[in-house]
Amino acid sequence: MLSDKITKQLNEQITKELYSSYLYLQMAAWLDSQTLPGFASWMKIQAQEEIAHAMIFYNYVNERGGVVDLGAIGKPPQDYKSPLQVFEKTLAHEQTVTASINALMKLAISEDDYATKNRLEWFIEEQVEEEANPTEIINKLKIVGDRGDGILLLDQQLGTRVFTPPPPLAMQ
Ligand code: FEO
Repeated sequence: MLSDKITKQLNEQITKELYSSYLYLQMAAWLDSQTLPGFASWMKIQAQEEIAHAMIFYNYVNERGGVVDLGAIGKPPQDYKSPLQVFEKTLAHEQTVTASINALMKLAISEDDYATKNRLEWFIEEQVEEEANPTEIINKLKIVGDRGDGILLLDQQLGTRVFTPPPPLAMQ
C-alpha cells in the first residue's frame, strides 16, 4: 500500500511525464514547420516515450492499490529560434525531470518504501540517457553551425530513430 504522500507525488510525476510528451510534440510541430522531418520524427518518438513513462507510473500506482489522479497539463511554448535552441530546451527540461525523479527516490527511501524505490531505479537510469541524448545532438549541432548540408545530414540521421517500448512497459 502506498502512503498518501508517495501517491500524491507519483500522480504529480504522471502529469509531468504527460506534459513532457505535450512539450515534445509541440517542438516536433515547430521542427516540421521548418522542413526538418527527421528532427521532427525524433521528437515525436520522444513524445511517445514520455507517454510510456507516464503509463509505467500509472500502472505502478494502480498495482499498489493507489488511485491515479491526473492533473492539468499546461500549454507548452510554441516558438523556437533554431534546432539548437529546441534541444537546449529539451536538455533543460530533462534536468528538471531528473530532479523530480530524484525527489521521489528520496521520499521512497525516507519512508522505507522498497517497492517504489525499486521501480524508481529504472527511471534514475533512464534519466541518464534522457539527458545524454539531447546533449549529443546539441554537440553535433554546434559542430555543424549554420552549414545547411550538415543540418540536412543530421536530419537524415535523426529520422532513423524508432520507438521501442521501455522494458517496464513491455513486460506488463
Ligand atoms: Fe520521462 Fe524524458 O523523461
